[in-house]
Amino acid sequence: MSITKGLGPSIFSQMTQLAEEVGAINLAQGFPNMPIDQKLKDCIAVAAQSEQHQYSPFQGIPELRQQISDLIFRSCGVRVSSSEILVTTGATQAIFTTVQAMVKSGDEVILLDPCYDCYELPAILVGAKPVYAPLNEDYLPNWDLIEDLMTPRTRLIMINSPHNPSGRVWQEKEYRALEHLLIKYPEVVLLSDEVYEYLAFDHPHYSVRQSPILKERSVVVASFGKSLQATGWKIGYLSAPERLLRNILQVHQFLVFSVNSFLQKGIANYLEEFNPRNVNDDCRMRRDFFTSALQSSKLILLPCEGTYFQTVDYSMVSSAKDVDFARQLARDVGVASIPISVFNHDFRDLKHLRFCFAKTEETLSEATQRLCTL
Ligand SMILES: Cc1ncc(COP(=O)(O)O)c(C=O)c1O
Repeated sequence: MSITKGLGPSIFSQMTQLAEEVGAINLAQGFPNMPIDQKLKDCIAVAAQSEQHQYSPFQGIPELRQQISDLIFRSCGVRVSSSEILVTTGATQAIFTTVQAMVKSGDEVILLDPCYDCYELPAILVGAKPVYAPLNEDYLPNWDLIEDLMTPRTRLIMINSPHNPSGRVWQEKEYRALEHLLIKYPEVVLLSDEVYEYLAFDHPHYSVRQSPILKERSVVVASFGKSLQATGWKIGYLSAPERLLRNILQVHQFLVFSVNSFLQKGIANYLEEFNPRNVNDDCRMRRDFFTSALQSSKLILLPCEGTYFQTVDYSMVSSAKDVDFARQLARDVGVASIPISVFNHDFRDLKHLRFCFAKTEETLSEATQRLCTL
């Protein structure tokens, strides 16, 4: 039987399709519906008119890698050499490529549960075993439990903060615990998915690059889809010490070879002036608008410190399973969301739904009015 047999359309596609069928407001899939920065469009338009249309160097054009290096320095004060950066077709490819390069059949990969849905399959495809470490009820990690799950076969740990689906943002103490763990397991590599790095609202995002211990052991994944609010472009990057990057480059070369050349050029020009603070302020304002409009609803708002997502507990409204309630909500109330259980391996029947608030004020206003009728 094929490994992928039984994999249907993702819940994101299903809920988006349902939203279209029933005319619901789509707060399910995580994409902004606001216009992107005009300056960014201008930079891309200029690049599209240039002669930057052939294959680019397979690691990414030097101007873009240099701009990324400078951006990392500006945002977390750590210098990552442009030779340690690989431009990818989005974070999904960066994750897939890293797993192919780092993990072999029989290895074990620790996934914190719930987690983004593209982490598991790459491990399964190489014949590795995903090992799930449930997060605590507050969606923060349980380090004792994670350590109990470590074995001599553990090769990779995948972490994600700011966290999709919960919106939690790890504070420094989590990274100190991670350092202690990794020191005990010198062969283990860390994949840190930091696609929402600029969307930490209540306390700063801590990049694993800021820890000299973790930086040496980590592949850090980023997405221009998220940081430039243009999820459809599917372009991102990863950074890793050369020792790890070497193998990743080999896989990348044969999987993708190189990424869209004029997008790289346009983004490189834009990054010179890019200030992540603006994206952060913009999304924080949307989070605040959404949460304050839901204060009078029967939905209980769980802590949301970052990302595009607010998770709510609907147990005061219904005892239905989250997948059923999400469908009912889209059909009867006209708001589409994502049931959290789809991110869970160890299904705990939490009455939690995830809403994307990276939407215009008009969309959020209409959606929250509908949710307040519950
Ligand atoms: C946590 C997380 N990682 C990775 C991705 C994929 O990013 P990209 O669209 O750049 O492939 C997403 C997209 O929603 C995400 O939420």
